[in-house]
Amino acid sequence: MLPWWIVLSLLRTQSNDAPVDTWDYSDTEAWGHRYPLCSGPLQSPIALRKDEASTAAPPRVVATAAAVEWEVEVRNTGRTIVMNMTYDPRSRETPRQAPIQLVSQQEPLFGTFDLGEVHFHFGNVSGNPGSVHAIGDRFFDAEVHFVFFDNSFESNDLAARVPGGCVVIAIPLNREGRYQRRQLPFPTLGLERRIEAVSARGDYFTYDVNLTNMREMLSVALRRVYMYSGSLTTPPCNPVVIWFVTAIETSVNAVFLDRLITGVYRDRDRRVLMGNNWRPLREKGNRTVYTVQSN
Ligand SMILES: *[C@@H]1O[C@H](CO)[C@@H](O)[C@H](O)[C@H]1NC(C)=O
Ligand SMILES: *[C@@H]1O[C@H](CO)[C@@H](O)[C@H](O)[C@H]1NC(C)=O
Ligand SMILES: *[C@@H]1O[C@H](CO)[C@@H](O)[C@H](O)[C@H]1NC(C)=O
Ligand SMILES: *[C@@H]1O[C@H](CO)[C@@H](O)[C@H](O)[C@H]1NC(C)=O
Repeated sequence: MLPWWIVLSLLRTQSNDAPVDTWDYSDTEAWGHRYPLCSGPLQSPIALRKDEASTAAPPRVVATAAAVEWEVEVRNTGRTIVMNMTYDPRSRETPRQAPIQLVSQQEPLFGTFDLGEVHFHFGNVSGNPGSVHAIGDRFFDAEVHFVFFDNSFESNDLAARVPGGCVVIAIPLNREGRYQRRQLPFPTLGLERRIEAVSARGDYFTYDVNLTNMREMLSVALRRVYMYSGSLTTPPCNPVVIWFVTAIETSVNAVFLDRLITGVYRDRDRRVLMGNNWRPLREKGNRTVYTVQSN
């Protein structure tokens, strides 16, 4: 295991860019050769269980003035479909404005975090689960990550170099209709009708979205969450993330999920489907997982 002084010096000096030509999901154990932090401490994802330690209030989801109408950029990176939430050509003067923030002034989180991106992990055409985290030994059909950065840093890149500089809210997703019981619906923002436009690596488009439902869904998701210290689940695997993985069952539009699995490719020529873009579970080690709950 890498000692912490090496981890901290790598975090300071390495590039946070990990070009997709340098890694893929066929051999996740090899990531550490080029990206040593991937074999370092505090790696994600991990298995979560219901019998863990508890702690106090979850953070609050806050809308900024810009929250309702927002232009987002959607892109096929070759490894995921990502919605860039900091893209807004209309507000060049305030480049760091974010449509959704996470705010907390009490344990376990201090500060204001700006939503930077939203991206997806999903299974393949064989119907395998596609979540990265497991809860009580169960994996889910997919998982969406909302990545926030501490906005006291000058840039998201700098925040991603400091332990605690990033917060990810992870929402494991069940295919709509898989279970009879009522679930929190994930708002797809109409992406299911546009996914074809990002089927090949490098494809992108921008469109205006109304983020009201997304913000409300996040608030509900945070009412009961698992929290632990971990890492980015893709190279360079920076161990800087405070994870909040919701314990609230959430469903996702089946058409959207099917189009991700069957219509999105990891190359420019649309030869290899992107599916199964998840990292296997890592050792939890001596980390504590907290259950954070509000009433
Ligand atoms: C998101 O968009 C902004 C503004 O166009 C750009 O500066 C930034 O690099 C983009 N982020 C990602 C992760 O592509
Ligand atoms: C889907 O993924 C599983 C592993 O999770 C693998 O065994 C299976 O072969 C894959 N199916 C296809 C069609 O690639
Ligand atoms: C945004 O969506 C919310 C909830 O569906 C709706 O109440 C509101 O009127 C919408 N706002 C705009 C500007 O469309
Ligand atoms: C967990 O283990 C690491 C070394 O494996 C050690 O540095 C760290 O202090 C331990 N943390 C706790 C909370 O025991």
